[in-house]
Amino acid sequence: MSTPDRIEADGERKQVTVLFADVKGSMDLAEQQDPEEWRQIMQGFFSILADEVRRFEGTVDKFTGDGIMAVFGAPVAHEDHARRACLAALRMLDDIAEYAAELRRKHGLNFSARIGINSGEVVAGAIGPGGDGEYTAIGHTVGLAQRMEALAEPGKAYLTEATAELAHGFLELEDLGEFEIKGASRPVHVFELAGVGAARSRLDLSGERGFSRFVGRDEEMAVLNAGLERARAGEGAVVGIVAEPGVGKSRLCREFVSRARGAGVEVFEAQAQAHGQEIPYMPVLQMLRAYFGIGDAEPERQVREKIAGRALLLDPEFADDLPVLFDFLGVPDPASPAPQLSAEARERALKGVVCHLVRAPKREEPVICVIEDLHWLDEGSAAMLGELFAAVEGTPTLIVVNFRPEYERDWSGPPDYHEIALEPLAPADTAELLRDLAGEDPSLDGLAEAIHERTAGNPFFIEEIVRDLAESGELEGERGAYRLAGSLSDTGVPSSVQTVLAARIDRLGPEAKLLLQAASVVGKEVRERALVTIAGRDAEECEEPLRELIRAGFFYEAEAYPERVLAFRHPLTREVAYGSQLAAQRSATHAAVARTMVELNPERQDELAALIANHFESGGETLEAARWSARAAYWAGSSHPVDALRLWRRTMELAAELPDGKETAALAIASRLLQLQFAWRLGMDSTEEARLAGEAEEIARRTGDLHSLAMLRMATSARPGIEQHTDTWVAAVEEVNGLADESGDLPLRIALRAAGSYAYLCAGDLDAFERELDEVIELSAGDRARGAGIVIGSPVAWAMMGKGLAQRERGRREEAERLFDTALTMATEDGDPETASWTRSNVALTMAMRGDAAAAVAMERRNCELTERLGDVFSRSVALADLAAARIYADEHEAALRSIEESERVYREAMGNGGEMEAWRAAIRAEALLGVGRAAEAAELARWASDVARERGLRWSQPAALLALGRARAAAGIDGVAEALDEGAAVAAATGARLSLESIEEARDELAAGAR
Ligand SMILES: Nc1ncnc2c1ncn2[C@@H]1O[C@H](COP(=O)(O)OP(=O)(O)OP(=O)(O)O)[C@@H](O)[C@H]1O
Ligand SMILES: [Mg+2]
Repeated sequence: MSTPDRIEADGERKQVTVLFADVKGSMDLAEQQDPEEWRQIMQGFFSILADEVRRFEGTVDKFTGDGIMAVFGAPVAHEDHARRACLAALRMLDDIAEYAAELRRKHGLNFSARIGINSGEVVAGAIGPGGDGEYTAIGHTVGLAQRMEALAEPGKAYLTEATAELAHGFLELEDLGEFEIKGASRPVHVFELAGVGAARSRLDLSGERGFSRFVGRDEEMAVLNAGLERARAGEGAVVGIVAEPGVGKSRLCREFVSRARGAGVEVFEAQAQAHGQEIPYMPVLQMLRAYFGIGDAEPERQVREKIAGRALLLDPEFADDLPVLFDFLGVPDPASPAPQLSAEARERALKGVVCHLVRAPKREEPVICVIEDLHWLDEGSAAMLGELFAAVEGTPTLIVVNFRPEYERDWSGPPDYHEIALEPLAPADTAELLRDLAGEDPSLDGLAEAIHERTAGNPFFIEEIVRDLAESGELEGERGAYRLAGSLSDTGVPSSVQTVLAARIDRLGPEAKLLLQAASVVGKEVRERALVTIAGRDAEECEEPLRELIRAGFFYEAEAYPERVLAFRHPLTREVAYGSQLAAQRSATHAAVARTMVELNPERQDELAALIANHFESGGETLEAARWSARAAYWAGSSHPVDALRLWRRTMELAAELPDGKETAALAIASRLLQLQFAWRLGMDSTEEARLAGEAEEIARRTGDLHSLAMLRMATSARPGIEQHTDTWVAAVEEVNGLADESGDLPLRIALRAAGSYAYLCAGDLDAFERELDEVIELSAGDRARGAGIVIGSPVAWAMMGKGLAQRERGRREEAERLFDTALTMATEDGDPETASWTRSNVALTMAMRGDAAAAVAMERRNCELTERLGDVFSRSVALADLAAARIYADEHEAALRSIEESERVYREAMGNGGEMEAWRAAIRAEALLGVGRAAEAAELARWASDVARERGLRWSQPAALLALGRARAAAGIDGVAEALDEGAAVAAATGARLSLESIEEARDELAAGAR
């Protein structure tokens, strides 16, 4: 057993923001300074830059001599990488301005810096000789960031549209228009960073764009309202809302808050920020500012008055706490400064004040406090949370908090805590949201289902995907009234969604992340054992990482028994995990997936062959891919002809990429021959047929391959559906059998003999037909797998059915029925639905002949349904014709006419000609026409049919055509009734078709009786 290698990630594709900052004109400046002093000046500069990069959790990728390159979003992804880079840039510019003023004073230097920012995909990893160099990011994104820096005016930061798209709203940007940039194929839209924007959360941003209609969430709203009722009753309550990003925690809170405010309830809001974990107490401060109604730029005195006013009104005892509060809110009172406290004591004091505020005795009106995004809470605020929760008991306070699943709550059970695990939107809610976002144009049919499936009902993803589709032009029109202009199939993951998902993936440990990536290559679901093998790990090593993946909500357990199957919770996560891998790693994983599938599924290899071939192909192993594709094609065989044809085409294409050799030649020929096999079943363009045949013959001759030559002859001149005389056909079949015998290849001899025998039947040579079929049975020697699936699924089943046909023609109906039964059993056992279809038709027709026409029609109809599923035109046309024949027995002439016309149309549309059964079909159609009283038309058609049969030697169909002709002529009062019947009787007698002979004699008697 070959175990795949351990898969290791040595680099990744990532969405990041790159920042370049440097000193403008550093050469000139350096020249004015003593080198040692200059070095010190630069040290100061670098440490300003590095500090700000660190504050916003970026990475200094390198020092460039007179500046730095920094990356935000790698190695660890942040969903707000663009925002972090911009905030860092703003602070850098401020700090540098201060620093420059100092340098001007001290050294008379005109020092200024400039910054360039760009966002996009990079490849990040250790780069250097042997792959063990420093971690760095490379790609076009990096170059463009540097160009932005070069373009920027001194003291400014410029950014590209890519960054602007992600940071817009959170930052104030000034549009500078488009610039031609060296190295960029089209003009780049450039923005200047002007300051901090108004939006604080993503939800603020969607508010700016106009909220979508709020859908669903009735139960959740009820939980929140119950909390509010408890607060009103003075009991106090805490409600927590937990969900993955974008599911709608903030939106639910917003809707609740605006309803509560509408009802006159006071609400205070605070929010932890992704980049705020380094800034202590930000949300607590925010909450207190909201509570005391403090605006942005109020004079300190006024602020103190507001605080004191409100606090003392609540409880005069607050007087003692005021200095601490003033200090904390940044407005210390010079008259009575706060006592000097240790950090710890200060924190305790602060907690005391906050709890005091909550529990203040005079408070009666209910109050709601909302704290969002606890997962980003700084340590100080987190420590305060538990006590705050405890404090609300017995007060008219409702606290609502929300957080993502990864947040580990360590508060010890607030007294009255309810948690809402917010689920994604249900399909009906998704549909309603989409009606609001996109409208109801008929071209959007199916959009809701498709989007629900991709987004798994996450409203943020839904909104972003619709926006993305509109921006890329797939959707035309305006918000709420779009039309579908493009296709939905190959849209990527919107960058806004990608950053969120990539950040979640990056929070995983390295092993968990690797398993996630490996699973993304497999598909939506993966068996645990397979995943472990693909990654080249052992089961034990994977236990903890898998637990982590389930805990963090990436996977869920789709099946637990008999073996664990893990499934991706979000299709989009899978896409992002797949896209984040370098091509080399991904392709190695594909190959490992293919090997593992082979190894772990010994009994299901045929069924999985097509999938295995795909993975080998994506893994760059073309020979394996071609082998498995051929195997899949064989397996699809005649039971799934459409798939088989497609797989043979694929095999041919794959073989064309392989170096010359014996196996390549074999694959190249087989793939062409087997495509030709489908020409008579599905129809094929004649130039394509000729090209395939020519190419196959060229290879077969070059390699002296008799086997293939025989197959080729069969496919080009001995197959059904060719417009030729049966003599020519029979001669070709004899040649084919000769070649097959000469090749000594037993399965081939059986397969071709079985298929070729059909020519004798059509020629009306029942003896030769039976002889060939007996030979097939004899060569098979009891092993029905021999030669199976090469042309016909089960040659022996076919032989049994053929013998049944011959017996029936000879008038031995019971013997025929016995053979048909055997044939049907064998065809079913051997998995040959084609032969089963033909046999079922004949069983039914025989029933009709015996007088049970109603049952025959029912069975033919069922057979048509089953045959329809095969997609095989030849069999479909036969089934419909036999249905028509049964209907004639049942005197359902109108219906018979419809069936036979459909049979004719189906055949001609795909094949372009009438094939060897055209006379037979025409005879049935003539009978049906006769049945509906269109005797003249029937006579005309039957005459044509008998001419064709005579000219092409189709002696099996000929008596039926002549019988129809005789009957039609009699009904239409046209001469030549006896001639037609005489000729029919003569052919039937000569071919030994007693059944036809009897029918003709019966008709003759009937007509004579009618004339009397
Ligand atoms: N029930 C809803 N009906 C309509 N739109 C909704 C609904 N819930 C959420 N949305 C929309 O989906 C987007 C994402 O929602 P929201 O910002 O509330 O997610 P979140 O769970 O707070 O995510 P995060 O964890 O990133 O903060 C928003 O634009 C919001 O308007
Ligand atoms: Mg939110």
